[in-house]
Amino acid sequence: MPTLPLTHHALPGESQPQDLLAFIAAHRLQLAQDLLVHGAIRFRGYALATPQAVEDVALALDPQLAAGEYLGTSPRNALTRHVHSASELPGYYPIPQHCEMSFLAHPPTRLYLACLQPSRWGGETPLCDFRLVWRDLDPAVRERLQRRGVRIVRNYVGPGSPRSLDPFALKRWDALFGTTDRDAIAQTCAREALVPEWLPGDRLRLTCTPPVVRVHPETGESAYFSHLQVFEVGTPEAELRRIAQLRGTAHARFWRHAGRLVTALTRHSKHPEDRAMDVTHLDGNPIAQADLEHVRNVIWHHQVVEPWQAGDFVLVDNRSTSHGRLPFSGPRQVVIAWHQLAVPLGHATELHEIT
Ligand SMILES: [Fe+2]
Repeated sequence: MPTLPLTHHALPGESQPQDLLAFIAAHRLQLAQDLLVHGAIRFRGYALATPQAVEDVALALDPQLAAGEYLGTSPRNALTRHVHSASELPGYYPIPQHCEMSFLAHPPTRLYLACLQPSRWGGETPLCDFRLVWRDLDPAVRERLQRRGVRIVRNYVGPGSPRSLDPFALKRWDALFGTTDRDAIAQTCAREALVPEWLPGDRLRLTCTPPVVRVHPETGESAYFSHLQVFEVGTPEAELRRIAQLRGTAHARFWRHAGRLVTALTRHSKHPEDRAMDVTHLDGNPIAQADLEHVRNVIWHHQVVEPWQAGDFVLVDNRSTSHGRLPFSGPRQVVIAWHQLAVPLGHATELHEIT
């Protein structure tokens, strides 16, 4: 079974960013092949210390990096033209495993993660082979998820909305789309199979019905490919419970109880359609808790948790491999770049092919 991630260590005397650029130039074809097999490749020991150094490496791998177009839910800050903070969500908040923007028609094909400063405690970015997840899901659960489908709803306030007190409130819709032009937003939504619904109070509801499995265009392998276990209302409780078991600390147990309380409040205080995020089957009925728990258990079984080292750079095949974030405390800087959106999966311009 391939290891995840495959790690390339800098050789003695070749531990500078320019050495990594030379390594990439000399091994493009092998890296492309390795990425298809392993799902993620980590470069360690090359002293990447700035967002610009990360961007240089990402551009060497992928000249078609996105320049800020991001339709996901994490708040991010731009650090260079292509490199952003991975997430500005508070450190106590767990980010479950997901393939980046899986709910779009054209999610990015590859991601580029790097750690400029590891946190003092926690803050790992676990990876998970979603091909194995799809393989190991109970066939009855797979059949149910495919037959009944998945419907994702996200609610956004806008520049004319009253201030939201919801702790799970998403960024404003003008920040999400980078514009207040509703025609431009409609075009992006049409391209990415999002259905926009403008609501009173300058609010926007985005609905989509993405598949739960996608076939990798280069390998033909099926991979689980859904945010259903991310956007479901019970997610904080479910993740923090597993994290408490993983860590076994009083701190983690505290957050487990906090997660349970917050989840209960969210579950009972808002109609599902009005929550910041919600997920159901296509007919609007909830996905069975047992099915959600099963999906989460299989993901947790396969996810790989390893601490960051300063300067690590990880190339991820977003069509086979997911990522997440475990809670942390103290300063931490993990950054991200991604392949541009709107390139259909399997399109000929697929990431420069690293050839
Ligand atoms: Fe992400």
